[in-house]
Amino acid sequence: MNVITPHLLDAARQARLHAHAPFSGFCVGAALETHDGQIITGCNVENATLGLTICAERLAIFKAISEGHRRFDRLAIVADTAEPTPPCGACRQILWEFGGDLEIVLGNLLSETARFSLSDLLPHPFDRRLLGQGDG
Ligand code: THU
Repeated sequence: MNVITPHLLDAARQARLHAHAPFSGFCVGAALETHDGQIITGCNVENATLGLTICAERLAIFKAISEGHRRFDRLAIVADTAEPTPPCGACRQILWEFGGDLEIVLGNLLSETARFSLSDLLPHPFDRRLLGQGDG
């Protein structure tokens, strides 16, 4: 499955070009691979209230859900940073609830910088199991 990862990072780089980040200047792209091999992208979209900003990762997964996708394998995230840029806490929660234990591939404009499983980034998650509603 690693074979397609470069394509996924490239898709995240392309999505990043659409980021709307006039306040932070920090542009992020995300590309989500569905279980049947489709790629759904997102970028961060900021707002003057700042608090209504949506991150690239959440936009990608909400977009995918809105298009009928329900099973996901991995997510690539790209920012123009030397260090890996992992997803924020809010995104980890949403990714876990909709994507389960995704593979998270981090990259910058040139290369992959790190790779994690989401369960490494979000140990001991709160999810529907705790509401008595199934496996997570
Ligand atoms: N941002 C993302 O899109 N994803 C992340 O993983 C971290 C932060 C965005 C939100 C905001 O527009 C900008 O980056 C600075 O926080």
